[in-house]
Amino acid sequence: MREQSIFLTGATGAVGSELLRNLAARKGLTINVLVRRTDREPCERVKTLLGDLDVTAKLNVLEGDVCAGPSLGLDNAAVGSLQRETTHIIHAAGSTSFGLALPDARAANVWGSRNVLDFARSCASLECGAFLSTVYVSGKRRGDFAESDYGDAGHGFVNSYEQSKAEMEEMVREAMNELPLILVRLSIVVGDSATGRVSRFNAIHHAIRLFYTGLAPMIPGEPAGPVDMVSSDFVAAGVLQLLENGPSPGVFHLAAGRESCSSLEELVDETMSALARFRPEWRKRSVEKPLIVDLDTYELFVRSVEETGNPVLQGATRSIRTFAYQLAHPKVFETERAAAALAWGGISPQPSLAFYPRVIKYCLESNWGMRPC
Ligand SMILES: NC(=O)c1ccc[n+]([C@@H]2O[C@H](COP(=O)([O-])OP(=O)(O)OC[C@H]3O[C@@H](n4cnc5c(N)ncnc54)[C@H](OP(=O)(O)O)[C@@H]3O)[C@@H](O)[C@H]2O)c1
Repeated sequence: MREQSIFLTGATGAVGSELLRNLAARKGLTINVLVRRTDREPCERVKTLLGDLDVTAKLNVLEGDVCAGPSLGLDNAAVGSLQRETTHIIHAAGSTSFGLALPDARAANVWGSRNVLDFARSCASLECGAFLSTVYVSGKRRGDFAESDYGDAGHGFVNSYEQSKAEMEEMVREAMNELPLILVRLSIVVGDSATGRVSRFNAIHHAIRLFYTGLAPMIPGEPAGPVDMVSSDFVAAGVLQLLENGPSPGVFHLAAGRESCSSLEELVDETMSALARFRPEWRKRSVEKPLIVDLDTYELFVRSVEETGNPVLQGATRSIRTFAYQLAHPKVFETERAAAALAWGGISPQPSLAFYPRVIKYCLESNWGMRPC
């Protein structure tokens, strides 16, 4: 049997690092990871991520950038060898900031993904390429969103991130006619279900901190509206099973779905009670539970915060605003295809409230990543 050779982008990200740790501990596998240089060398960045993990796969770290044209910033020799040997691609690199201008969000998410698609076309032995996307390509739709549904259906998007990912999906769907590709739409990935560990803190963790500091007195939404969250271990296991067990090309939702999501009110209640449980002295600050209000009331609140001229409150409200409008467009993400493809491996999402408190505990203990833990 041909040895698997996996090309992974985004290995330093929240999701990519879980995938890398999972793959690196396997035998009989080659993993080529494309990593950007920052103030640190790509190899050094990957070494830090893997820590004391026993790496049994053959791991090559390649310096590159998905925005650097079809060569992805690699030299000819590296590209040639990847084109010959790559059997699987996981494209997890992307811009995940919600506050970017649309052209900036498109740079990595659309044009960078187009470069990865061109690379996929040039691979002689490609068995499957998984492109990671988000269930929020659904934008401001409400109600059920199926794996066979696409885009915002004319309702608009909450932010440029959602729009750029929806545009990426269009390109990938078209390429499915010629390449063995899957689109894997993820829900909000909050942390490890057993330990609560967060590998990269993002908007949801930032929102927990604003609840903690009392800087989020209001959020938009419907108390009974569903909020979908998944754990990083479920996502890593799900992506790898979908990739390796070759379902037919298509779209898969790695989401909590109807059965395992919680309501916005339950989530807010659990956030407040977990903060009090894990940091008893916090109770003394008497931080009020954020109010869940309709969109019009929230807009009034945002305008009044802008008028206060209070930079701390303004910063907090602006950061929440870039994604919290999703809460005012509640949706249930259907997961039939993914559930069928993952069932034989026993992989399924846990109810969000079963692991979410552990993530809050991790946020507190690590001081949102500022303290080793
Ligand atoms: N985390 C979630 O809750 C979530 C939810 C839904 C969908 N997703 C999707 O899952 C994928 C991974 O998300 P994530 O949360 O892991 O993102 P993340 O933590 O923000 O990490 C993004 C990754 O992409 C890399 N990257 C960005 N621009 C790049 C470029 N031009 N060239 C090469 N690498 C580049 C980053 O590298 P650097 O370290 O060098 O910046 C990092 O490794 C994305 O497609 C995202 O849309 C994530």
